[in-house]
Amino acid sequence: MDDEQRALEFNIKKIDQAFLDNPFPTYKIMRDYHPVHQNPDGSYFITRYKDVVLSFKHPSMSSDKKIDFKPKFGEGPLYIHHTTSLVFNDPPAHTRVRKLLAEAFTPRKIMELTPVIEKIIDRLLDRLAVKQTFDVVSDYALALPTEIIADMLGVPEEHRHKLHNYSNLILGALDPVVSKENIAKGHAAVTEFGDLLDVLIKERRKTPEGGEVGEVLAALIFGEVEGEHLSPTELIQNCIFLLNAGHETTANLVGNGISILLDYPDQLDRLRSDPTLIKTAIEEFLRFQSPLQIGNRKATEDIEFGPVGSKTIIPAGSFIHTAIGAANRDPEIFVEPEKVDIGRKPNPQIAFGIGKHTCMGNTLGRIEGHIAIGKFVKRFPNIRLVGEKKYHGRARFRGLETLPVEVF
Ligand code: HEM
Repeated sequence: MDDEQRALEFNIKKIDQAFLDNPFPTYKIMRDYHPVHQNPDGSYFITRYKDVVLSFKHPSMSSDKKIDFKPKFGEGPLYIHHTTSLVFNDPPAHTRVRKLLAEAFTPRKIMELTPVIEKIIDRLLDRLAVKQTFDVVSDYALALPTEIIADMLGVPEEHRHKLHNYSNLILGALDPVVSKENIAKGHAAVTEFGDLLDVLIKERRKTPEGGEVGEVLAALIFGEVEGEHLSPTELIQNCIFLLNAGHETTANLVGNGISILLDYPDQLDRLRSDPTLIKTAIEEFLRFQSPLQIGNRKATEDIEFGPVGSKTIIPAGSFIHTAIGAANRDPEIFVEPEKVDIGRKPNPQIAFGIGKHTCMGNTLGRIEGHIAIGKFVKRFPNIRLVGEKKYHGRARFRGLETLPVEVF
């Protein structure tokens, strides 16, 4: 089968292991031959940068999933969670909740968190230095964002080990194909985490000043915009969303970033000889291996997509898969997009999305990346892969399950 035929037959519901391991060759043929592709289920898969940006910015693109999630989740906890989290809402509900959540991301809160991040990283690096052989993903990349979000939500030490699993189960339920068993586990995870947060919130209501440095719970409980607070359900479900939104994505950035440096030793040497490149390096890691590869929107009116001269109308009511990972390698925007250049400028990557739903944690995620990767490279002058790296098998998120290394 030639590339054009493969592009024509692409089906988002039938992606295989080869796609999960390396989606970029598929993205390329889709961009080249079928940039506005209709899947057999009627949904669309768009891969050009300009189209993905248009889908995020167009006022008639909806993020609301109240209708789409019903058949998949019924009316259970996963449904309540995903339809209450701000990312799956449209204005005016989205605007209201976003303003109230902004209390957690003020420059002051981020400044408070920076030394906390540094301390966590130094502690983790000390542990790794003793171990010498370890897994970058489980021993390092995942540990940082879990700790940070647990600090933000004030989750006590004894509950923290459960958070990664909650996040996996709740987010895993969003993949294009999910087993009944995993849906049931996702419902249970929302309930358990919700119950835990309920206890923590009740406590903080009684002792508003009792939070540790970096905790944002009181700001979310008592924050007020035009006389309104988050309702109890909005508060709990959006706290769960903060864990999900900021946990795997940031872990993927750190794991993917270190993996890219091991794959491109010239870039690692470049970063070592000029550590000030860490900022542009993080932007390049976000572009080259975007932690969130595929987003989604629904058209609420007919909208034209595709390159000039071969426009396609996506009709109102269509579900659209927005391939951020493909957009970030579009040669129309990026010079030599398949090449890693840690000094790349300009780099208008859209790994954090764009438009009214732009990632609220983008500054925090970037700072975590700068500190985690910058310090890792500085601390370990020699890093060697000692086993096979493996991507986890999820289409929407691009991240490693394991990256075994030795440092010496
Ligand atoms: C490298 C790390 C991260 C990446 C790549 C990332 C990516 C994204 C993307 C692509 C969106 C937009 C989704 C859409 O438009 O449908 C988003 C939204 C969001 N992210 Fe992140 N994220 C990261 C880290 C974080 C962190 C650390 C937090 C908070 C702790 C966070 C909180 C949020 C929130 C609250 C939204 C929803 C914004 C809205 O709907 O208005 N993210 N993120």
